[in-house]
Amino acid sequence: MSKKKLVFSGVQPTGNLHLGNYLGALKNFVNLQKDNECIFCVVDLHAITVFQDPVELKNNILETVAAFVAAGLDHNKSIIFNQSSVSGHSELAWIFNCVARIGWLNRMTQFKEKAGKDKEKASVGLYIYPNLMAADILLYKSSHVPVGADQKQHLELCRDIAQKFNNDFGAANFFPVPEPLISNTISRVMSLRDGLKKMSKSEESDFSRINLKDDADLIVQKIKKAKTDSASISDNLEDLNKRPEVLNLINIYAELSGISLQNALKEFAGKDFSHLKNKLAEILVATICPIGNKMKELLKDTKSLENILNKGSEKARKIAENTIKETKKIVGLF
Ligand code: TYM
Repeated sequence: MSKKKLVFSGVQPTGNLHLGNYLGALKNFVNLQKDNECIFCVVDLHAITVFQDPVELKNNILETVAAFVAAGLDHNKSIIFNQSSVSGHSELAWIFNCVARIGWLNRMTQFKEKAGKDKEKASVGLYIYPNLMAADILLYKSSHVPVGADQKQHLELCRDIAQKFNNDFGAANFFPVPEPLISNTISRVMSLRDGLKKMSKSEESDFSRINLKDDADLIVQKIKKAKTDSASISDNLEDLNKRPEVLNLINIYAELSGISLQNALKEFAGKDFSHLKNKLAEILVATICPIGNKMKELLKDTKSLENILNKGSEKARKIAENTIKETKKIVGLF
């Protein structure tokens, strides 16, 4: 019998949760919840590495919990909580700031992308963000971390930190070296406007993404306007690799329909884009609208959402306190 996984993952409460978050993360969280111990965290301390309006941040934290529940997470089965309510995350992150090397952080591509040209003006928090992420995961001694492909490099850093800590302090196997769980069918949902960019909440054009709270009309409109090209749809993958926008739409369709990319290609080869777009919009409306509607319903009762967080934080704190106690002892702190 295979050992149960201890699963941890986090989502930033920065608003506009979208199809990429759903297919890259939330959908897998729900599948993993069936047979494993799972902890899902609204990572509010990560969010403030770039300035957040305090009122909006509070709303976005609750909206992220609503998205977790609406997508199918069960707070009686899995621990759902917000990062800042468990102080162990910040404490362990500090210790990891002293374990991780500057050279490791200098290689992080997400920092380079987010900081842009003027690195000097980025917050220090944004730079050391991956150390906090490692603390999130290792505080619970998690064995598996479901994420989209954009988080792969951060997980490699987390593995390096776990190994260096264990080696430096002669504490073999104290922190597990966690495994990333990245979908091998759709690990990166791309923008509807530019097939070389990932779908993202920070992209200026709302037409670049399908938000979980979009209504049916808007989803249909966004898919109609999604970028394609003038050539006909081919079932040749090599050809499609050169047409990333088309490949992205077919990939999303295949994932939502639960069929292989090859079968989706067979279905659409030689047909008009309007056929693909109608079918894709149909399945998107059927999948995303019930989640969005449930989110809107849940957000009418913010007290219940706060209760979910409070209950989850209490459970998370118990595990975290234990790890912090053990870690301090290993490091030589009272
Ligand atoms: P965040 O909040 O940007 O995204 C949440 C999850 O959604 C995935 N994702 C995507 N997957 C496929 N295609 C896309 N276009 C796409 N956009 C986002 C992300 O990969 C992620 O799984 N640093 C993390 C949050 C975090 C975390 C953690 C994750 C903090 N601590 C510990 C795992 C474990 C982040 O910013 O995700």
